[in-house]
Amino acid sequence: MAVLGATGYAGVELLRILVQHPRVRLAVVTSQQFVGKQVSEVYPSLVGKCDLVLQEIQVEKIASQIELAFTALPHETSMDVVPDLVERGKRVIDLSADFRLRDPKSYLRWYRPHKAPHLLREAIYGLTEMHRKGIAKARLVANPGCYPTGAVLGLAPLFAENMVQGTVLIDAKSGVTGAGRSNSVELSFSEVNENFKAYNVGVHRHTPEIEQELSQIAERSISVLFAPHLVPMSRGILSTMYVEPKQSLGEEKLIKVYKDFYRQDPFIRILPSGCFPQTKEVRGSNDCAIGLRYDSRVRRLVVITVIDNLVKGAAGQAVQNMNLMYGFPEVEGLQGTALVP
Ligand SMILES: NC(=O)c1ccc[n+]([C@@H]2O[C@H](COP(=O)([O-])OP(=O)(O)OC[C@H]3O[C@@H](n4cnc5c(N)ncnc54)[C@H](OP(=O)(O)O)[C@@H]3O)[C@@H](O)[C@H]2O)c1
Repeated sequence: MAVLGATGYAGVELLRILVQHPRVRLAVVTSQQFVGKQVSEVYPSLVGKCDLVLQEIQVEKIASQIELAFTALPHETSMDVVPDLVERGKRVIDLSADFRLRDPKSYLRWYRPHKAPHLLREAIYGLTEMHRKGIAKARLVANPGCYPTGAVLGLAPLFAENMVQGTVLIDAKSGVTGAGRSNSVELSFSEVNENFKAYNVGVHRHTPEIEQELSQIAERSISVLFAPHLVPMSRGILSTMYVEPKQSLGEEKLIKVYKDFYRQDPFIRILPSGCFPQTKEVRGSNDCAIGLRYDSRVRRLVVITVIDNLVKGAAGQAVQNMNLMYGFPEVEGLQGTALVP
């Protein structure tokens, strides 16, 4: 296996999971700025577990050493590398946004012109719980964004059961690792600490991805209002979704709808009535916990999900997808419990 972009937050989380995976042998790790150093020099947490030397990306050389590559590169960089890997017969799980949108026009509108539009139709969207069959056979998996994972897992049962009317409001709060290991001023300690802010309200690039997936589940065109926020914690996303249901319904019935929908999904946990999830209960784990409330006074449903953005929102889900692609048990390498406190 290779991890391209191994020194980023998603990449090093992949390494943390993969070094403990019983059926994986890591052969290649890449970086742009640390070429020639051992990855364990950059991240001492890996000393003795993964001491591979970081390479620059040379597709031909990498392809000769691996069967599958995880690409944890920035969007617009991934699409320079992924087509070449796929053409050389390698399977790819891309963690960037480059292959998530099926329509090249949509990619153009939210990003820029796509360099490999033929692969957009082929790529399988890697929200594991929704697309197991396609993922198992895929050459290219487009691993979902962190916000879309939390939002879509929370809303899928309602759209699948045709229970929603009106526009859903998604109010999501993320820890700072969601933005990667950047040196930008906005993500520096003094800007983030003791602060809580909204950003890109209504224009965030994860909006079309959420709408695409919900539209497929609902079998009609869905639009959402998406308001992301940054909170002063390292990991985690808590998403609160406000939904107008078609009919009033009791909370026990609602919980049953969710439990039935996710009955075969080992990482999805539906909380009992009156319980709401918190980010610490999933921190470091591949779980998604979902809490539900129907407020009969105002006839609105509130769905709250929590995930670790780097695990279920990125590396954990990517490994879950890899397990499916190789016919390994879906939970292999992912059974660690959350870090509490
Ligand atoms: N962070 C999350 O929670 C999260 C969740 C889901 C998906 N993702 C997606 O996963 C991808 C990686 O995210 P991240 O948060 O890990 O970002 P990051 O911390 O900024 O890491 C980016 C990685 O890509 C490498 N890189 C950057 N530019 C490159 C270039 N031009 N050529 C070759 N390598 C290059 C970097 O190498 P060096 O720094 O060593 O030079 C680093 O290893 C992104 O597309 C992101 O959208 C992230």
